[in-house]
Amino acid sequence: MSGKALLRFLTCGSVDDGKSTLIGRLLYDTASIPTDQLATLERDSRKHGTTGTDLDLALLVDGLEAEREQGITIDVAYRYFSSPRRAFIVADTPGHEQYTRNMATGASNADAAVLLVDARKGVLTQTRRHAYICSLLGLRHVVAAVNKIDLVDDAPAVFARIEAELRAFAAPLGFQTLTVVPVSARFGDNVSVPSERMSWFQGPTLLGWLEELDVSRDRAAAPLRFPVQYVNRPNVDFRGYVGTVASGVVRAGQSIVVAGSGKQTTVARIVTADGDLAEAQAGEAVTLTLTDEIDIARGDVLSTPETRPEVADQFAAHVLWMAEEELLAGRPYLMRLGTATVPVRITGIKYKVDVNSLEHLAARTLHLNEVGFCNLDTTAPVAVDAFADFPATGSFILIDRQTNATVGAGMVSFALRRATNVHRQAVTVDRAARERLNAHPAKAVWFTGLSGSGKSTIANVLEQKLHAQGIRTYLLDGDNVRHGLNRDLGFTDADRVENIRRVGEVARLMTDAGLVVLCSFISPFRAERQMVRELFAPGAFVEVFVDTAIEDCIQRDPKGLYARAQAGKLKNFTGIDSPYEAPLTPEVHLQTQGHTPEEAVEQLLALLGL
Ligand code: ADX
Repeated sequence: MSGKALLRFLTCGSVDDGKSTLIGRLLYDTASIPTDQLATLERDSRKHGTTGTDLDLALLVDGLEAEREQGITIDVAYRYFSSPRRAFIVADTPGHEQYTRNMATGASNADAAVLLVDARKGVLTQTRRHAYICSLLGLRHVVAAVNKIDLVDDAPAVFARIEAELRAFAAPLGFQTLTVVPVSARFGDNVSVPSERMSWFQGPTLLGWLEELDVSRDRAAAPLRFPVQYVNRPNVDFRGYVGTVASGVVRAGQSIVVAGSGKQTTVARIVTADGDLAEAQAGEAVTLTLTDEIDIARGDVLSTPETRPEVADQFAAHVLWMAEEELLAGRPYLMRLGTATVPVRITGIKYKVDVNSLEHLAARTLHLNEVGFCNLDTTAPVAVDAFADFPATGSFILIDRQTNATVGAGMVSFALRRATNVHRQAVTVDRAARERLNAHPAKAVWFTGLSGSGKSTIANVLEQKLHAQGIRTYLLDGDNVRHGLNRDLGFTDADRVENIRRVGEVARLMTDAGLVVLCSFISPFRAERQMVRELFAPGAFVEVFVDTAIEDCIQRDPKGLYARAQAGKLKNFTGIDSPYEAPLTPEVHLQTQGHTPEEAVEQLLALLGL
């Protein structure tokens, strides 16, 4: 390892553990602060500082004025500094509960973690959580900096206790190295120079440890993974596959295989802006051309024929949940894995992990910052690897389809075989044949709206009219289905998601059977209505928004449920203490105020064209 090899590390710890001061201290001690910034720091320390007349090194790091006023750090910041022996990039990740997401971001390409512990507080839940997440994210080297050691009595005993507790907790986490160092970031003890006040401590300084750490990983020795980012086709004579080598080496002339199709071919050229290369290593962005014209799209992964990724649509993974809203098993999220993006559902949470004891607990959902071991189900097969072997093609993020927010991060453990052993059975009498026999198309008409909005009444009138016209129909109604197929479901968000998922599948089977199926469900969430829509061919799904103001529903209250909900006797009632997300672009928008159900049905009949 060369003396100047770059080391990327992240810092994590609880609020007030002194991370900003520690990073400031590292920058200061390594003379990485420009003179003009030092002058500003001196001025700011007098104005905002919390350290009396001393320099407040935290102010160097807590750059934003707003943060300074609040006295906390709020977002991930990358900083560069160097000592005579090594160059460093540090990701500063905030320590409050809700910022685990930033920590995951910071850890994604870090070699090591500095875990801050306040000597006065000892090992906290947050410390354990961060240590556990570091291990999940594949960090193999951790140094715990036991800070503010100058503020405790009997420092050697306090330090020994914290070290023992940390080592016991971290034992099952599989870190390659765990070093514990007592420091005082404020006064500089053991940060870059050994402390004279801590002659009882024989270990390295924090900077010394960071300089010595050997993280030379032979990423090039790992098997090749080349996730295709896009296909570059400027003219008919050139077709290049653009991407970054995620692991291993790619060489001109070597055989490669396309994970999805299993097709094999040879790398013709490795093209870059600076001319062709004979080979490219992990981390290099290149364009590959191949000797054969084969179908390759964004998201495909190229590998050597000998060591291929799995291609699966079901797998098990650890999921770190990063959103304020709980995870909803059954809801489709978008998964971005490598360069592929596919809809995915969590089909089961085998357990969640108690970050204090590492115990496995039963769970039906995950809340902010929780980690669960889950089964996932994608709508199309993707190339995946185990995270332990291939971090780049074995990790993914989960995205909320409505808000585009990143809601989770995942580390793949293994692909599940069972799905690949279940094949679709071809049938001869299909929907088209039944539609011919019936002499009308099959459709799903989906009524959504508040309880008491009139969905069922309108659906019922519509069914009578259709039936009278000789159209084969079936009416699926929330209240009825909940007595049978879905009698195990209640009204939590998770249960509503599952309710609509099942009903959507049933409605699809019924349209396969050639029927016009009328579905009357509150179906309060856009995500699940979208999910059901995607089960049908374009035009075969008609969303009808039965738009009745909540005040009118409350006034009608046909089942007396609003009264009960308002009296607090019925929980999770839609419109009262459970949300309703109105459709943005329904096929039909029925305003019921001032119209009879018959009028609504006339409007519908005209639109359905049956
Ligand atoms: S959905 O939200 O999952 O789509 P669904 O349409 O199946 O609901 O069931 C709604 C019916 O259940 C309502 O019309 C009402 O009669 C009854 N119900 C009982 N409890 C609730 C509740 N907490 N929220 C909404 N509807 C409820």
